[in-house]
Amino acid sequence: MKFFIDTANLDEIREAESWGVLSGVTTNPSLYAKEGGRLADFEEHMVKICEMCEGLPVSAESTAKTTDEMVDEGRHLSSLAPNIVVKLPVCAESLAATRTLAAEGVRVNMTLVFSAPQALLAANAGARYVSPFVGRFDDIAEDGIDQLATVVQCIKNYEWHKNVDDQCEIITASVRTPNHVTQAALLGADIATVPFAALKKCLRHPLTEEGLAKFEADWQKVTGKD
Ligand code: G3P
Repeated sequence: MKFFIDTANLDEIREAESWGVLSGVTTNPSLYAKEGGRLADFEEHMVKICEMCEGLPVSAESTAKTTDEMVDEGRHLSSLAPNIVVKLPVCAESLAATRTLAAEGVRVNMTLVFSAPQALLAANAGARYVSPFVGRFDDIAEDGIDQLATVVQCIKNYEWHKNVDDQCEIITASVRTPNHVTQAALLGADIATVPFAALKKCLRHPLTEEGLAKFEADWQKVTGKD
């Protein structure tokens, strides 16, 4: 399973990128707003991310409402950098827009997916990525991982994973915890997009910390240094 980072924060992206494990970036309007982003700077910000992560897919979300507006905005966003992926929320308008954009070679990440039928519709429309949300099910006391399992099974039953020209990868989104990451990998999701705080948690384990402390203490005995 590949790791994307789910943030619009340049420092977080830079640091995660430096780990050498990053395969992409996802952003959304809330994440951009969290950085104090302004509309006038949005495109420049996306270009900066794309340049920092050259060659990696960077999802920039459209806020357009109609199919025509989504297509226009999608074309424009994709012209900003070769690695832009246009993120669209699943709805009738975005399915039609995805069909048009995909035919032009513009990659679409269909977001706000909460059910297998939504994911199947997105894949049929030609979405390059489909993003089922996990954490938001947990927020309403439902099992987000169960829901993800259904989406993964439904997509993997068909050809989207096998045909490179018509590939649809599953991005596990709304990831909050290392356990979400583990469960997504167990289910065979292609990608998890993870906020930086959760990514750092993925790196840690109390036994690793304990092991390091022991090595250091024992090494001091070897070197005779305090
Ligand atoms: O990728 C979508 C993600 O950012 C949503 O996460 O935590 O707002 O549910 P969250």
